[in-house]
Amino acid sequence: MDIVRVTADAPAEVFEELSALDRSCFGAEGWTARAFSELAARDGGAVLAAYAGDELAGLFAGFTAADTGEVLTLATAPGHRRNGVARLLLGEFLSSVPDETENVALEVRQSNTAAVGLYMSLGFEKAGVRRRFYSDPDEDADIMVKNMKESAGKC
Ligand SMILES: CC(C)(COP(=O)(O)OP(=O)(O)OC[C@H]1O[C@@H](n2cnc3c(N)ncnc32)[C@H](O)[C@@H]1OP(=O)(O)O)[C@@H](O)C(=O)NCCC(=O)NCCS
Repeated sequence: MDIVRVTADAPAEVFEELSALDRSCFGAEGWTARAFSELAARDGGAVLAAYAGDELAGLFAGFTAADTGEVLTLATAPGHRRNGVARLLLGEFLSSVPDETENVALEVRQSNTAAVGLYMSLGFEKAGVRRRFYSDPDEDADIMVKNMKESAGKC
């Protein structure tokens, strides 16, 4: 599995492919190609793609700004799940954040046991709830946060 950092000058088809995977996983909440390309161009933006040969197996989008980071979207293609792809993508982001990053946060549907399991295994803890954060279907989000300073130097 190859993890590639997608930069703003990548071909348009790369962003189209990221969007197609994100939309296949999240429906109408999935990101457009433009959203991926704008994030890739932004200071602190991180767009990562996992490839199995030529095939897009997973994607990650997030950013860091000042002392915080945020996971914005993360998805693995159905045929590649439970193979460590999401763990690789998120691990790559977490290991590349600037030294001053104090914590990384995300929102996750409370019913998304696969994602919650992944985040907990990487040291994220529940920090709060955003009521009715999601629509179609309506659902609360758990806010999860990983303290980057606590985990530093432990392994
Ligand atoms: C959540 C998702 C990204 C996980 O991707 P993945 O590549 O299959 O995950 P990994 O193989 O890296 O799994 C890492 C860990 O996550 C947890 N996990 C992943 N899938 C799981 C499942 N179906 N049930 C329970 N735990 C699961 C496990 O702790 C797993 O570690 P293990 O395999 O050693 O037990 C994937 O299921 C997905 O794309 N879902 C749809 C989109 C989505 O919900 N994204 C997250 C939005 S917040």
